[in-house]
Amino acid sequence: MPTHTLNPTDSAALWHAPSQDARRIHATIPGYNPTPLRPLPGLAASLGVGQLLVKDESGRFGLQAYKGLGGSWAAARMLAREMGVDIASLASWGDVVALAKRAGRRRLVSATDGNHGRGVAWAASLLGFDCTIYMPRGSAPARIDAIRALGATVIEADGGYGAAVDAAMRDAEGDDRAWLLQDTTNPGHEDAPKWCAEGYETLFSEIDEQLDALGERAPDLAFVQIGVGTLADAMVRHLRALERWNATRIIGVEPTSAACVLESVRAGRPTRTGAGDAHATIMAGLNCHEPSLAAWDAMARGVDCFLAIEDHWAERAMRLLAGAGVESGESGGAGLAGLLALLESPDLAPARALLGAGPASRVLILNTEGATDPIGYARIIDAAAGAGRGQTPRDSGGAS
Ligand SMILES: Cc1ncc(COP(=O)(O)O)c(C=O)c1O
Repeated sequence: MPTHTLNPTDSAALWHAPSQDARRIHATIPGYNPTPLRPLPGLAASLGVGQLLVKDESGRFGLQAYKGLGGSWAAARMLAREMGVDIASLASWGDVVALAKRAGRRRLVSATDGNHGRGVAWAASLLGFDCTIYMPRGSAPARIDAIRALGATVIEADGGYGAAVDAAMRDAEGDDRAWLLQDTTNPGHEDAPKWCAEGYETLFSEIDEQLDALGERAPDLAFVQIGVGTLADAMVRHLRALERWNATRIIGVEPTSAACVLESVRAGRPTRTGAGDAHATIMAGLNCHEPSLAAWDAMARGVDCFLAIEDHWAERAMRLLAGAGVESGESGGAGLAGLLALLESPDLAPARALLGAGPASRVLILNTEGATDPIGYARIIDAAAGAGRGQTPRDSGGAS
């Protein structure tokens, strides 16, 4: 059954307006386009909420997920530091490539469930760097192949995500010419996850412009799926710093089998949870068992409610999004899955009441990935053809 915990911390704490440096550089990377913010009125009506907006990251840089925003910006930050250059003085991605030509560290190393590693491999390919990516044993072949196709070496670790993170750190620490570009904290490697969150700011600043273009106020509820929390860190920093989002409640969503942030908030400190089983949930990108320390403060202060949900909610969310014309992978649809559970589960009635979730709610979800594992995607979508698909034809191929 789904569970929740409400955050007792005062989320009105002051935050600094996020820097637009990453957005400035991202906008000059070949292939950059803001990803769409799409209203899904048919799906909203069928779920019984006032409005549903999806920020659809499945087309970001052709990588099927938002993660390239973090990998590219963290690499730019690393290069600027190594070369003693003020990051604010860089005008374009071309300036970053110029720094890369003179850099001493020429190999990016990371661990991933799929998307972050693909973003890092892509950044390395743009910079002319070598790249080594560690993945949990038994990762989906399509996710491995997508990273290899970018020229990276992929090594399957002896275990789950935690084992891959440990292996990546050992590799990077043994080579002066390598840099660990990890989106979660490791002892002595605290900068990269912070820089990844700065990179994700680009997607939130796009949302502001897109709300203006749609003539929309900020939504009442914003869902963010959580693995180690770096994406949630970016959401909190953006939403809690800008007045237009003052009334928006932030809801973090994790798989029940890997709810490390929910458990940590209950414990009052970052806590390691679960057995680290590589395949305990289909939400591979969220299958993490320890929060990133770099993201902990923002999540502990700024997320209003944490939900833990089972896989069947994610499967249904994928099918509903497919029916609305949005391609969404297992972790990609987890925000919508959290909304479904919040609206429907008797176990979440207290959270539903406290968040005021219902017919008047205007909701933001992030579709953070497309069908990165096409075999798994087809199995889930086809398994219930008709059960969710096609329920909301008014949204199919709709506005962007
Ligand atoms: C598709 C997708 N969504 C969300 C997340 C969660 O991001 P984070 O680990 O920063 O919490 C991930 C992480 O890999 C992911 O792959």
